[in-house]
Amino acid sequence: MNKNFLLGLLILTTFCFAVSAQGPAGQAAQSLPAGDAKAIVETACTTCHAATMITNTGHTPEDWKLLVERMVSAGADVPQNQMAMVTDYLSKNFPERNVPKAVLVPGAVKVTFKEWKAPTVGSRPHDPLATHDGYLWYSGQYANVLGRVDTKTDQIKEFRPTIARSGPHGLVEDKDGNIWFTANSKGYIGKLDPKTGKFTEYTLPAGAADPHTPLFDQKGILWFTVQGANKVGRLDPKTGDIKLVDSPTPRSLPYGMVVDSNGTPYYCEFGAPKIAAIDPNTMAIKEWTLKDPEARPRRIAITDDDTIYYADYARGYLGRLNPKTGEMKEWPSPSGPRSQPYGITFLNGAIWYNESAVKPNTLVRFDPKTEKFQSWAIPAGGGVVRNMMTTRDGNIVIAESALNIVGLVMVGK
Ligand code: HEC
Repeated sequence: MNKNFLLGLLILTTFCFAVSAQGPAGQAAQSLPAGDAKAIVETACTTCHAATMITNTGHTPEDWKLLVERMVSAGADVPQNQMAMVTDYLSKNFPERNVPKAVLVPGAVKVTFKEWKAPTVGSRPHDPLATHDGYLWYSGQYANVLGRVDTKTDQIKEFRPTIARSGPHGLVEDKDGNIWFTANSKGYIGKLDPKTGKFTEYTLPAGAADPHTPLFDQKGILWFTVQGANKVGRLDPKTGDIKLVDSPTPRSLPYGMVVDSNGTPYYCEFGAPKIAAIDPNTMAIKEWTLKDPEARPRRIAITDDDTIYYADYARGYLGRLNPKTGEMKEWPSPSGPRSQPYGITFLNGAIWYNESAVKPNTLVRFDPKTEKFQSWAIPAGGGVVRNMMTTRDGNIVIAESALNIVGLVMVGK
């Protein structure tokens, strides 16, 4: 078991249990029920996390099937011919329960969804990327692929990073059309030249094992968060120079990022109720503390006048921070406190985000002028949309991580 991957998982699971409204507390000691697949689940499914990860949850048979495919893709040692038995065992013993329902808000804006299945099962498409040439890219985190969807012809091409089990996570394009990604499981920033298929690795210094979200500033410097290592960094593609600094708050889990119109990168802290700015020259960090101590902003978006909106995953709120004045305001998300707002972006004067815990997942639009919401069910279900991005022609791309699906939202059509 790779240590970095484990570290990331520990952080992730610790956090999930801290905020999850599912999974009643106090079940830690519960063991797996009897059944034909008990033995294999006990061995194959407890190498990365405890069995409580299983006993504390519940899914539909379809979702268990996708989950087993995803875990096997991540490295669970379940032989192909036993996957159905394992899925049946899990479905029977841990049915879906207590999942919050989507609350849909009608409105005047029209959207149409188009969705594609990723070719490799269990890929876990983590982040989508809309490139200048109109492709929809995604990171297949568990399958170690970068996928490229031609949204006109439906053709999908997969590129495989040279290093096995890299855990490709965040994606961003540079001015020359290279695709950069954070190798979340292998401690490097990768670059793919799609014209040649060549991968280049920029290894991070020790202690920065899990690079998370990457973003270019206007000068071509790549900024990135390192979640578990509690750092933020910059990489100069011209020289390959890498600089890292600590996020001032311990265990703050630096997560989503944006860059403002002056080239200042901001990130949100998923382990603290904070949003931070990095001085692009000195890398000095300034933090804003949100009003509610329970707030956990997971991703952020920035408007064309440099106002920041955050998805408060833990409390089910959409929030706003004006970094110039420090003014803050927040709104309860339509589907309520357990809705887990996650992927978020800004398009044509409005904020768009995903409610990732409700079934089906929703796409929510918030109009800052009227302070009104509108929302839609994501047709395939969403399955936790961890990130979304605006395309150059005014649409939105999404990745539906647990469903192994990526999508394009055509706005106004
Ligand atoms: C190689 C490491 C690894 C192995 C082995 C593994 N898992 Fe996981 N598991 C993860 C990671 C990483 C996550 C958190 C991210 C996610 O949900 O994909 C996770 C999350 C989960 C969750 C919580 C997420 C949810 O949607 O409910 C369940 C349940 C789960 N695993 C079940 C299993 C089962 C069943 C097996 C055996 C077939 C298994 N795991 C084997 C890495 C692993």
